Amino acid sequence: MRSALALLLAAPALVAQSPVPPGGWHHVRLPASFFAGNRARLLQAIKAMGPGTIAVLKSMPVQPANGDGDRAYRQDSDFYYFTGVEEENSVALLDGDTGKYTLLVQPRDPRMETWTGPRLGVEGAKALGADEAFTFNEGETGKGDSPADKELQKTLRAAKRIVFMDNLDMPFRDRVLDVAYPKGTTNWGGGDKILVDGRAMSAEMRSIKQPAEIEMIKKAVEVSIEGHLAAMKGSPRFTNEGQVAGAFEGTVRSLGARFLAYETIAGAGNDGCTLHYPFNDQPIAPGSLILMDAGAELGFYTSDITRTWPANGTFSPEQRKLYDLVLKAQDAGIAEMKPGNPHIASMYAAGRIISDGLVDLGILKGDKDEVFKKMEWKRFLPHGVSHWIGLDVHDAGSYGQGDAIYRRGGSRKLEPGMLLTMEPGIYIPKGAEGVDPKWQGIGIRIEDDILVTKDGPVNLSARLPRKAEDVERLVREGLKKR
Ligand code: GLY
Ligand code: MN
Ligand code: MN
Repeated sequence: MRSALALLLAAPALVAQSPVPPGGWHHVRLPASFFAGNRARLLQAIKAMGPGTIAVLKSMPVQPANGDGDRAYRQDSDFYYFTGVEEENSVALLDGDTGKYTLLVQPRDPRMETWTGPRLGVEGAKALGADEAFTFNEGETGKGDSPADKELQKTLRAAKRIVFMDNLDMPFRDRVLDVAYPKGTTNWGGGDKILVDGRAMSAEMRSIKQPAEIEMIKKAVEVSIEGHLAAMKGSPRFTNEGQVAGAFEGTVRSLGARFLAYETIAGAGNDGCTLHYPFNDQPIAPGSLILMDAGAELGFYTSDITRTWPANGTFSPEQRKLYDLVLKAQDAGIAEMKPGNPHIASMYAAGRIISDGLVDLGILKGDKDEVFKKMEWKRFLPHGVSHWIGLDVHDAGSYGQGDAIYRRGGSRKLEPGMLLTMEPGIYIPKGAEGVDPKWQGIGIRIEDDILVTKDGPVNLSARLPRKAEDVERLVREGLKKR
């Protein structure tokens, strides 16, 4: 046993122990009660609109990839939130008068299931909570004469008010509109139905995360952290951006992420200045920074993390000055993420620090108040610095009203249970006019996932080192293993 003194003297671990089990979290899902609870809230809302109100939801259309192939199928976030159904060609109907929940799904089909696996069918749909379930003919959702088609047409025709969660599935939208507005009538007149945008209703429900959702996002974040650690520690061995992205993606997939929350951004040097750099295929020049913005999706919930580190484990003096500035801005932004504060407060807090810092470094010139007020700093930080995360990486939920979101009074107030990123950066591309060449070719972003609680902000991705010295130490750990 180690003595108490030895324990006291032991160097603290750089990265706290991972809570991710060695086998990962494959196929984690929220319980059926979660989806039932969401439907109950939706039912209450549509009931309150008056008699004859129904809600109609449609699964995400299949996205073709090329001639004979489709992209990996990922369910529409709203459809998932209210049903838990992961299959394509599905429709959900909720009747505000009776509370009846109906699922219209694909038929069981041994031949098709040989290719893509088992389907829910009527039995599976009922097991997921549907009071009634009907099947479409193969590949059809609403235009044929299958039991599901008939049920859909009957329900739409009988309704007075249709709350439609339109997800740009155009053929399905046409089917709803054909019933809602027969013979060229519109919402303003002629027809006997009112069409309501259900997306706005679901966005409000989704903007406050429930405890089970927060736990799932924590898992997605932890898996992403493992991916970032693999990429950072591996980078002394890497010679190409593709290896950085590959280390992240291989790790998160092996730990249970079926999907990425978004396409990985792994840019070295000047490529870090391209905000959504899509290529990840260039050589890593000696002495360059690597910017990786990468997130796993776990159980349909996303994470969104960016780290920037020196490929060789040591920041140059210029890189370090800019890095410390971004980190200071991020800390200031996170500190604003308290209940009651407007969402935009974090942008102004971080922006002020970046703006003043760029003047101190001589990159921007003039009076600090003027430079900040005239938003000159936006030249080097052209993106927003915070967005909701959840089922979508840029999650549903309003930020306030129109242009008013840029004014404190018009920006949405933060509430416990909101989850959002804080992601300031500085980007000075090669050839930036009027900027000393020593600063050029540097792109830095630091992004973490913040939970608003009644006691203030909690950084869910804090386990992944951010301070310059910690980042250097971590990368150098990889150097030792060469
Ligand atoms: N990864 C996209 C974003 O940071 O918003
Ligand atoms: Mn983001
Ligand atoms: Mn990001």
